[in-house]
Amino acid sequence: MKILVVGSGGREHALCWKIAQSTLADEVFCAPGNGGIAGDAVCVGIPSDDIPSLVRFVKDNAIDLTVVGPEAPLTAGIADAFQAERLPVFGPDKRASLLEGSKSFAKEMMRRASIPTARSGVFSDVDQARSYIRDADYPLVVKADGLAAGKGVIVTSSKEEALMALDEVMVSRAFGDAGSSVVIEERLTGEEASFIAVCDGEHIIPLASSQDHKPVFDNDRGPNTGGMGAYSPAPVLDEASYGDVLEKILYPLVNVMKREGITYRGVIYAGLMMTDSGPYVLEFNARMGDPETQPLLMRLKSDIVPLLAETARGGSIRNMDLSWEDGPSVCVVMASGGYPGTYEKGKAIEGINDAEKIPGVKVFHAGTRLLDSRPVTAGGRVLGVTALGDDLKSTIDKAYRAVSCIAFEGMHYRRDIGHKALARLS
Ligand code: AMP
Ligand code: GLY
Repeated sequence: MKILVVGSGGREHALCWKIAQSTLADEVFCAPGNGGIAGDAVCVGIPSDDIPSLVRFVKDNAIDLTVVGPEAPLTAGIADAFQAERLPVFGPDKRASLLEGSKSFAKEMMRRASIPTARSGVFSDVDQARSYIRDADYPLVVKADGLAAGKGVIVTSSKEEALMALDEVMVSRAFGDAGSSVVIEERLTGEEASFIAVCDGEHIIPLASSQDHKPVFDNDRGPNTGGMGAYSPAPVLDEASYGDVLEKILYPLVNVMKREGITYRGVIYAGLMMTDSGPYVLEFNARMGDPETQPLLMRLKSDIVPLLAETARGGSIRNMDLSWEDGPSVCVVMASGGYPGTYEKGKAIEGINDAEKIPGVKVFHAGTRLLDSRPVTAGGRVLGVTALGDDLKSTIDKAYRAVSCIAFEGMHYRRDIGHKALARLS
């Protein structure tokens, strides 16, 4: 098969790396890819949101399967454009990706399916939103309704803060048009976990559990990022909760969407808060998590291509399953100085080869490009240094040993990836 992966981050590098190992994959392409992906796939210079050019490339090169990584092309309707041309594409169509593209739509689906989630209100009128905040007798989170690159969520601890957050989102439009309507919801407490699954419209094949680290600094301090590291499995999601997520969240969701005439084919990612009363949904994404995909695909023993291809073809994944390494995997993100704020690009990166000499280590590239055949930084999150091992403590140590081989000017990374799991296991 000829397979195209759309996107340019660490998630797409992990996908290309895993797909390239499949006996079914003859050639792997990535649009547009990055400096490291070039080692596992042929990078083609088409931006991931240029849907007409992607369709043309797939037709001209007789690509058998296209796998879409990021949310922007999905919510823009890449799957619809491919389906209209009868080209197999892995990723939900435009209506289904509203699950990520519109928080109010996601909330409405959850309400109809009685899925555990925070109490909330949706407002496009700022005065009504203000009075909801004044009347609420619980702490609040203010969320821009539309896509805001993972940034449009403000967690508050007082009514004053919530009112200020509302002004930022709806009046100053800090997140642009994504803030023309807001979801205001109860602030939940607990530990977060990521639950990622593949759905063929009817059946669901869950991936292993994982946990992200969103805030930029150790001990979950500082502003949120796209994710500073991840590991799998996440012990906070024990077997019982894992089953609950499938039975009480994902199947009801897929069924309620089906009743709306929406066949959900692709990845469903539930961002969960593990509360005292079980898993609650914070958000849904219509794609794999980044960085979660990096440790997940390191642990995946099965070939992923049949699952992706069958889903894309509109077939049934009912009899498929995935097998996982028993040992954990840990991914530490190395970021540019200043990220998640402004940062400089073009810094030479040293030591990746040394890091990869450690058995069980793979360095996935997120924001890199090649300059005279050498990697330089080209984004906020630069590398996902990922280790697979036998037990959590030694795997964390191995990931950080690999990190210590690598250097670029201004780099920073969290030093506590996996510590919540360590505390839970000890
Ligand atoms: P979201 O993009 O909706 O997942 O929100 C980003 C982050 O904001 C989450 O990972 C949580 O850390 C936090 N968050 C979102 N909703 C809530 C909530 N209802 N209660 C507490 N924290 C939340
Ligand atoms: N790691 C969080 C996300 O992919 O949305």
